[in-house]
Amino acid sequence: MTGQGPRALVTGGAGFVGSHLVDRLLADGYGVCVVDDLSTGSTNNVSPQAELHRVDICDAAPLHDVALRFRDVRRSVREPDFDARVNVVGGLNVLRAAAAAGARRLVYASSAAVYGNPARIPVSETEPPRPISEYGASKLAFEHYLGAYSARGLIEYAALRYANVYGPRQRSSGEAGVVSIFTRQMIAGEPVTIFGDGSKTRDYVYVADVVEATVRAAAGPSGVVANVGWGREVSDLELFRAVAAAAGYRRQPTYAPDRRGDVARSCLDGAVAQRTWGWRPSVPVADGVRRVVEYART
Ligand SMILES: NC(=O)c1ccc[n+]([C@@H]2O[C@H](COP(=O)([O-])OP(=O)(O)OC[C@H]3O[C@@H](n4cnc5c(N)ncnc54)[C@H](O)[C@@H]3O)[C@@H](O)[C@H]2O)c1
Repeated sequence: MTGQGPRALVTGGAGFVGSHLVDRLLADGYGVCVVDDLSTGSTNNVSPQAELHRVDICDAAPLHDVALRFRDVRRSVREPDFDARVNVVGGLNVLRAAAAAGARRLVYASSAAVYGNPARIPVSETEPPRPISEYGASKLAFEHYLGAYSARGLIEYAALRYANVYGPRQRSSGEAGVVSIFTRQMIAGEPVTIFGDGSKTRDYVYVADVVEATVRAAAGPSGVVANVGWGREVSDLELFRAVAAAAGYRRQPTYAPDRRGDVARSCLDGAVAQRTWGWRPSVPVADGVRRVVEYART
C-alpha cells in the first residue's frame, strides 16, 4: 500500500457490513487494511485493493503487529463467553493496538441490542441501556471502554448503535440476517418460518445507509454515541410480505414458537445522528429488499 493518503483499519472487513465499508473507504481514496479471522467472512468480499490480514482480534500480538506495520507503511453455537471474548477482549486489543499505533479515531459498530426491551419506542440514546443478551451486554461494555480511553485522552471515538442491518452479502445461514434468510428460502421456493406470531418488530436499515453514517462518524465530533436506524417498526409479517413481493413468492408463512431472548419490539430514534452528522437513511425497506433479491438471483 502506498502510504500518503488517509488510512483506515477495518476489523471484520471480510464480513457483511465491514466489506461494504471497505469498498466505500477505497472509493473515498483511503488505504484500507482489513483484519478478519474469516470465521464468518469471506475473502471474496474483500476488494483486492485492500490489504487483508487473517488475524483473530483476540490474539493480541499479531494484531499489534498488523496495526504497527500498517502505520509504518506510511512512515508514520455459542459459548457463554464468546461475545465477551470477541467484543470485549478482542475489542480491547483493537483499542490498545490503535492507541499504540497512534490512530486518531476508532469508530465502533455497536448495536441496538444494548437497549434490551426499552420502555419507550422509538428508543433514543438518553434511554438507559439494559441489554438482555450476552451480545448486547458485551457491546455496551465495549462502549464504556471507549469512553474510558477517550476520557484519558488516548483515542477519539464514535459508537454507532446499528439497528438491523441488511443488504447484499449478508449471510443467509447460521445466525444470519432475516432478510437474507427469507430471500434465500423464497427464491428456492421453500417454506418460510416466522418465529412467534409475526408481530415482533425490528428497525431495518440498508447497509449503504449504515456505511454512510459510519464514514460521517469518522469525520465528525468525538465521543458521540448515536443510533443508526430507519426509525420505523417493521413487523416480521410485514417484512415477510416485502420480501415475498420482491421475490414473487406466493405461499403463506408457517409459524413456529418464539425464540427465548428475542426482544419484542425494536426501533431506534435517529435524531442524534441527524443532528450530529446530517445523516438520514435513504433506502426504504421495499427498495432495499428488492436489491437483496436481485443480488441473490445473480
Ligand atoms: N448486521 C447487523 O444487523 C448488525 C446490527 C448491529 C450491530 N452490528 C455489528 O456490526 C458488526 C459487523 O456485523 P456483520 O453483520 O457485518 O457480521 P459478519 O459476521 O458478516 O461480519 C463480521 C466479520 O468479522 C470477522 N470476525 C469475527 N470474529 C473475529 C475475530 N475474533 N477477529 C477478526 N475478525 C473476526 C468475521 O469473519 C466477519 O468477516 C459487528 O460488530 C456487529 O456486532 C451488526
